[in-house]
Amino acid sequence: MSPPLLSVRDLSAGYGDEPITYDINLDVQSGTITTIVGSNGAGKSTLLKAIYGLNRKFSGTIDFNGRNIETLASVARFRLGLAFVPQGRCNFPLMSVRENLRLGGYSLRAMEREDAIERVTEIFPILRQRMSVLAGNLSGGEQQLLEMAMVLMISPKLLLLDEPSIGLSPINLSLVLENIQRIRAQGVTIIMVEQNVRGALAISTDAIVMDLGRIVVTGSPQDILQDERIAAAYLGKRAAR
Ligand SMILES: Nc1ncnc2c1ncn2[C@@H]1O[C@H](COP(=O)(O)OP(=O)(O)OP(=O)(O)O)[C@@H](O)[C@H]1O
Ligand SMILES: [Mg+2]
Repeated sequence: MSPPLLSVRDLSAGYGDEPITYDINLDVQSGTITTIVGSNGAGKSTLLKAIYGLNRKFSGTIDFNGRNIETLASVARFRLGLAFVPQGRCNFPLMSVRENLRLGGYSLRAMEREDAIERVTEIFPILRQRMSVLAGNLSGGEQQLLEMAMVLMISPKLLLLDEPSIGLSPINLSLVLENIQRIRAQGVTIIMVEQNVRGALAISTDAIVMDLGRIVVTGSPQDILQDERIAAAYLGKRAAR
């Protein structure tokens, strides 16, 4: 097997004086989709932020694409091909779709930026029809696609997605999940946290379960779905049948 794209060793990270996530060990291979499962407050967002460098690291190492990145600022990690779409909306609602995409590609030269807009709107044709619409007037699902498109402008190697379908209707949920698969097909590796655990696991290659700041189970989505205790704890009652 080739070396992992992301390799996290003994990572503890959090805010202020105390770590929230402890002893995180995680290997992510290129081309995979990993879903992080866990109850509210388990530390899922904290782990994604730690990988992207948005909180305080207490100990441990993070290697990304053969480089040691745990001391780098987020913007430097971004330049290396690590992208993060945080929980909640983060586009600019009073700017058009095109302007938002240009912002996503702010670090590119003008020509490259226009090429990148072509490329990402090929992935998400729905945005192509909405280029002049203000982002705030898009549907929730379209806004989520726009946010993913904004970070895809720089062709990331690894995309971290925190709750991409939060607050979306079932139709928009399937739109987002479908498009996550299209992003993977473009060669982007994905780690996501998703409240719709079943939907997320259905498109994932790997799964991890977090509890009280630690990774308690690592396995295939099938393993997680078939484990009755995990299913009862994180997937709702239907899963336990
Ligand atoms: N900026 C912050 N400062 C201090 N504590 C924080 C901060 N952000 C999160 N926490 C705390 O860290 C713990 C883990 O939070 P985190 O957001 O990582 O959980 P989560 O698994 O993403 O939960 P959810 O499913 O509700 O999004 C919680 O107890 C939370 O209150
Ligand atoms: Mg969270």
